[in-house]
Amino acid sequence: MKNVIEFKNLTKTFGDSVILNDLTFGIPEGKITTILGFSGAGKTTLMKHILGLVPPSTGDVIVMGTAINKLDDLELREFRRHFGMVFQYAALFDFLSSFENVAFPLREFTRMSEEEIRKKVLSLLESVGISREATYRLPSELSGGMRKRVGLARGLALDPEIMLYDEPTSGLDPITTHVVYDLMKETHERNAARNFTSIIISHDIHATLKYSDHIVFMEKGRVVEHSDVETFKKSENTVIRRFLEL
Ligand SMILES: Nc1ncnc2c1ncn2[C@@H]1O[C@H](COP(=O)(O)OP(=O)(O)OP(=O)(O)O)[C@@H](O)[C@H]1O
Ligand SMILES: [Mg+2]
Repeated sequence: MKNVIEFKNLTKTFGDSVILNDLTFGIPEGKITTILGFSGAGKTTLMKHILGLVPPSTGDVIVMGTAINKLDDLELREFRRHFGMVFQYAALFDFLSSFENVAFPLREFTRMSEEEIRKKVLSLLESVGISREATYRLPSELSGGMRKRVGLARGLALDPEIMLYDEPTSGLDPITTHVVYDLMKETHERNAARNFTSIIISHDIHATLKYSDHIVFMEKGRVVEHSDVETFKKSENTVIRRFLEL
């Protein structure tokens, strides 16, 4: 199995605190991997390293063969086109409609014509289940679940190879949570032919076991387990057992 991301002896410290402690492992290409762990384990910090938003204290982060911690700002900005991101609180631009939110990265990073942008945005919004009628509404006029959909459509706009989700279902009711998980799974499958990788940070153990192929379990800046779901379910690690029994 090929890894799309490799961490090599990755350590991150803030002051005296070791937040990521000598991590060496890989994330498999073409799979749905979920990063699990209690609050403060270092999950978001790990994701920021994947995006090159924070530099490692020591070690390397290799994405599709490139050590991204060695890129300069301009190269990094270009490299980030390989990623799509959906953040915890959707993080849409409040003053832009759904349409303009999704069009934003296309206007910013491509030379597509207005007509090409219009086609692409409408097809992306349709693929995540946003109706025509909601296309020109502002984020404040959408439900939380709809905002997540628009956030997902925007994350997919530049056809990324790697999609990153940081707690995409926090703040949503259990039904909407499942809708969002179904959507992430559908998105993954729709792009499977081009070796699309999905990486999800989650607290939701049940959804994770149902939807993921691969699990990374973090505790206090270390990776306690990284394995396929079936192996993970049989883990004898006491912290993981506690997590599984939640
Ligand atoms: N910029 C920073 N400066 C100092 N400490 C930081 C910084 N960013 C993160 N931390 C610390 O690193 C630890 C891990 O934080 P992180 O956000 O990665 O955890 P997490 O696993 O994502 O938690 P949660 O599930 O609550 O989102 C926390 O103790 C946090 O306070
Ligand atoms: Mg976090």
